[in-house]
Amino acid sequence: MLMIELRGPRVLLRSGKKGEAPRLLEILSEPAVATRWGNFSLEDAETQFVETDDALIVLVVELDGEVIGAIQFGEENDPQYRHANIDLFLTTSRHGQGLGTESIRVLARYLFEERGHHRLSIDPAVDNVAAIRAYEAVGFRPVGVMRKYEQGPDGRWHDGLLMDMLVEDFEDPVAK
Ligand SMILES: CC(C)(COP(=O)(O)OP(=O)(O)OC[C@H]1O[C@@H](n2cnc3c(N)ncnc32)[C@H](O)[C@@H]1OP(=O)(O)O)[C@@H](O)C(=O)NCCC(=O)NCCS
Repeated sequence: MLMIELRGPRVLLRSGKKGEAPRLLEILSEPAVATRWGNFSLEDAETQFVETDDALIVLVVELDGEVIGAIQFGEENDPQYRHANIDLFLTTSRHGQGLGTESIRVLARYLFEERGHHRLSIDPAVDNVAAIRAYEAVGFRPVGVMRKYEQGPDGRWHDGLLMDMLVEDFEDPVAK
């Protein structure tokens, strides 16, 4: 399994450890997170976030030694279509403090610089204003609306906004 550790000014993104699934489940169960990520059992949280395979790589987001969320990426490795997609969640008490923006920026830098991607994509729900704003701050641009793209915990199909960012769009303060 690939072990990764990426540092930002405040957050540390690192591979999850055994025993961290209950904390991630606690965060996933918060209403503001569950409404976006759906419902998980402890077993789901263990397989999806801690004992992951290399198809989907999940990193926990740590702040001052505390796990505050997770960020993941998947890679399309067909050379004709190569790109990576990203998704994340943070605990509600840490929303709106710029930590999501920072986590995406740190992961985007790694995907461009270390893994050689030229394009990243992300697909928030069209009404997820905070997520869209955070992604735009890093350099993602809207591509278009994917209609009835994702089934929510309410059982209804919701529209998703496909966004992408090319390496030349990346707003990276470290590189400036
Ligand atoms: C989406 C998420 C990762 C963003 O992380 P965050 O740390 O809260 O976001 P940031 O503080 O970096 O940025 C949020 C931006 O949205 C703005 N914002 C927040 N709520 C808003 C609202 N209701 N309307 C308009 N803007 C809003 C903030 O002011 C900030 O913009 P600014 O930096 O220009 O002021 C986080 O809120 C989260 O985990 N949400 C629940 C799960 C989720 O939605 N995951 C994403 C699935 S695609």
